[in-house]
Amino acid sequence: MSVKTYVRRMPLSAERVELPNTLICARRNDDSYAGHSVAFEERGELRMKLAFIGFGELGHYLCDTLQEIHHVDEENRVYFDDNLHRDMAPRSFPFKEYANDEFKHHQFYICLGYRYLMIKQEIITRLTELGRSLPHFIHSSSYVHPTVKPGPASFLYPGCSIDRNTVIGRGTWIANGSVIAHDCTIGDACWFGASVTLSGKVTVGQNTFIGSGSTVSNSVRIGSGVIVGLATAVTKDIADGESVIGNPMRTLDRAIELI
Ligand SMILES: CC(C)(COP(=O)(O)OP(=O)(O)OC[C@H]1O[C@@H](n2cnc3c(N)ncnc32)[C@H](O)[C@@H]1OP(=O)(O)O)[C@@H](O)C(=O)NCCC(=O)NCCS
Repeated sequence: MSVKTYVRRMPLSAERVELPNTLICARRNDDSYAGHSVAFEERGELRMKLAFIGFGELGHYLCDTLQEIHHVDEENRVYFDDNLHRDMAPRSFPFKEYANDEFKHHQFYICLGYRYLMIKQEIITRLTELGRSLPHFIHSSSYVHPTVKPGPASFLYPGCSIDRNTVIGRGTWIANGSVIAHDCTIGDACWFGASVTLSGKVTVGQNTFIGSGSTVSNSVRIGSGVIVGLATAVTKDIADGESVIGNPMRTLDRAIELI
């Protein structure tokens, strides 16, 4: 079996609407609007191997979505999920075995929700050290300016708009209809709910959650490990580890519970 890298040209937004199944799954490693995916050749065809870390509701969603473009056979998918493994599901492995050498040619998708942002970041760091493939994912209905840098394992749900010079950290997931303006910098393993708006030049640290419908004013700095409750108007900086909510925004003396 030989391993190859192939390039899938990522279409600019104007072209995307005309293409069927243009969910984009690609690891971007240069400044062109193109991505790399790892594939291997079998019986003369290029195929890929996918690995899902955690396989609950998110994993199923992601897997179904990827199938629309990659058509990866069931035998080329593995799942690192203790529950599946306990139930003896085919090709399931204990959660902590994702770093094993036998999976080094898989593409990894980390399907952990917003309650596990720290763990997700640890996994990304480990897999990055090992040189594993961590493709990012941009739904075809999202507009992404060509200057945007989506980090490995980042994920854009449908209907987002990401404007010029914005950087999206590793493993950051941004839900439906969010609008990120120009020159924003978002750290690793953040989670944005649906319809979050960042105005221009906003910075966000790592492992930060921003609840659905929240709006952040220009040039605000949001720290790491922050929780912004739903529909919050963020008008001033937020320090690391704080929980805030409301309009006007107020800081809570305890963390918001994310259920
Ligand atoms: C709804 C939510 C605020 C509930 O938080 P909670 O910690 O379970 O419990 P509470 O209901 O006690 O709310 C926490 C505080 O926020 C305040 N609060 C709740 N909803 C509020 C609102 N809409 N506006 C202003 N303040 C609000 C409460 O008064 C409470 O304040 P206090 O601690 O001073 O009494 C929180 O779960 C949340 O924002 N979740 C994010 C939901 C989301 O965006 N999901 C997207 C997933 S993709």
